[in-house]
Amino acid sequence: MSAFENPTIKSLINHVSVREFSDRVITEDERMAILEAARASSTSCFLQAVTIIRVTDPEVRAKMAEYAGNQAQVLNAPEFWVFCADYHRDERVCNGDVDLGWTEQLLVGCTDSALMCQNTLTAAEALGMGGCFIGGIRTKINEVAELLKLPKNTFPVVGLTFGYPAVRNDTKPRLPVEILCCENEYREPSDEELAAYNDTLCQYYTQRDPAHPLTSWKAKLDPTLKRERRPFIKEFLNKQGWALK
Ligand SMILES: Cc1cc2nc3c(=O)[nH]c(=O)nc-3n(C[C@H](O)[C@H](O)[C@H](O)COP(=O)(O)O)c2cc1C
Repeated sequence: MSAFENPTIKSLINHVSVREFSDRVITEDERMAILEAARASSTSCFLQAVTIIRVTDPEVRAKMAEYAGNQAQVLNAPEFWVFCADYHRDERVCNGDVDLGWTEQLLVGCTDSALMCQNTLTAAEALGMGGCFIGGIRTKINEVAELLKLPKNTFPVVGLTFGYPAVRNDTKPRLPVEILCCENEYREPSDEELAAYNDTLCQYYTQRDPAHPLTSWKAKLDPTLKRERRPFIKEFLNKQGWALK
């Protein structure tokens, strides 16, 4: 059997973000299995520097949806979890005798949280569900931290909606492996390789939404890369005890 037939690999390759969910209920058994899969995630230096906050209170959910830029999926998804980087617990275990505030620790907190969020999504997808990362929660990061009562040395890295899908897009073409993966040293892709990917992506988006055809990959990147990006984040992180040195 080809490795491409492996069910885990197939599920990973077929990933798409799902933003609309059916009424099908997630059973307790399914939810606990997903949580156990998340719990098993790799963690830097065994710090286990993540706390998941599962948002079930409709009022808190509504606030989170608003803070995430009025994303309906946050309101409507069967499950919405927030992955928080967390050194607060480690600090407690060490009776406060720790040296926190290093920028490296910020990277660790983000990495651990992102890994756990991805493992959660991978587990959900393995069960036939779908979901979507929600970075939008950082748009109102101060408000989110207050709403979730986050202590110092924690912060919300990313959210995740998941459930059984009502609507699934076609898989979005990623960079080809020849551009994505270099051997032994960094390789600049040629203009022709980039142009070919540009065409593939434009075709995908134009087919997905003919009313708004994509003219270039650059047009997709510009709105994100040519504007101020949450300039309040540094001050927020510093206030929470992160990236001070
Ligand atoms: C860290 C992170 C944050 C994201 N935040 C959002 C979000 O707030 N809202 C949203 O609709 N999609 C969000 N996404 C989903 C991306 O838009 C999506 O993964 C990307 O466009 C690729 O599409 P695909 O996952 O369907 O292949 C996020 C993805 C990541 C990895």
